[in-house]
Amino acid sequence: MSYNNILVEIIDKVAKVIINRPKKLNALNKETIAELHTAFAELEADKTIRAIILTGSGDKAFVAGADISEFADFDVSEGAKLAKQGQELLFDFIENLSTPVIAAVNGFALGGGLELAMASHFRVASDNAKMGLPEVSLGVIPGYGGTQRLPQLVGKGKAMEMIMTAGMITAEDAQNSGLVNHVVQQEELISLCEKLAKKISYNSGTAISAAIKAVNANFKDGVNGFGVEIEQFGNCFGTEDFEEGTTAFLEKRKADF
Ligand code: COA
Repeated sequence: MSYNNILVEIIDKVAKVIINRPKKLNALNKETIAELHTAFAELEADKTIRAIILTGSGDKAFVAGADISEFADFDVSEGAKLAKQGQELLFDFIENLSTPVIAAVNGFALGGGLELAMASHFRVASDNAKMGLPEVSLGVIPGYGGTQRLPQLVGKGKAMEMIMTAGMITAEDAQNSGLVNHVVQQEELISLCEKLAKKISYNSGTAISAAIKAVNANFKDGVNGFGVEIEQFGNCFGTEDFEEGTTAFLEKRKADF
């Protein structure tokens, strides 16, 4: 499948999804969001793909936010629809994928860009990355899950400060705050993400999918995460991966998932 705004590359069991609007600092317009949804849905359906790296093209930006030119004249109902559709099509969709998504934050991750990185399962940043939720400087608030996911990752006080000041934090600050797991030089960003993805790909995909469901349950209203863990743990015992994993251990060989 070919796209206008994104590139998809597959090497071995790892896919790379690259948002490719460098002249607009990879800002998320409606078409890009729709293309990302389609690409992620296709990669999720392909059970040979064991991890996805999400990044931006160029060396300046991951994503500099939602495309401001598209919503500048929206009214109240159009604004609500924009947030709802975006959350459903992309942000919640990525968070709930069975296939792990690593955000490789290679520069500005602002507004919808940071929200996209936060919807991914974890984040790695280049040392030039700058992150923030600048929406209140535009007279709006984060609408793609930022008010919910940022406090989950950095705590309420830090999230409040970042949202209220509309400022940007450095990659180092983001790492100290728990927003990103690793910071590396820009030239090393993709290779570190590939290493992590490869490591993930050696493990059981069905077990990883169950683990994502259980961890996500911790953050869902009205859902008993411990209950989900029990259910998912039990389900693992009925999988071929469990049989292979435990048999391989007992036979003193590496499991082949
Ligand atoms: N939406 C639409 N276009 C955007 C954009 C966005 N979120 N972010 C950047 N762009 C465009 C700029 O309009 C510019 O386009 P042009 O060359 O046609 O004029 C191009 O990308 C380059 O951006 P520019 O502002 O010239 O780069 P810079 O290095 O001077 O500044 C930023 C970089 C990230 C600080 C600045 O682009 C910015 O503040 N962007 C908006 C961030 C934001 O508020 N995001 C939240 C949106 S809800």
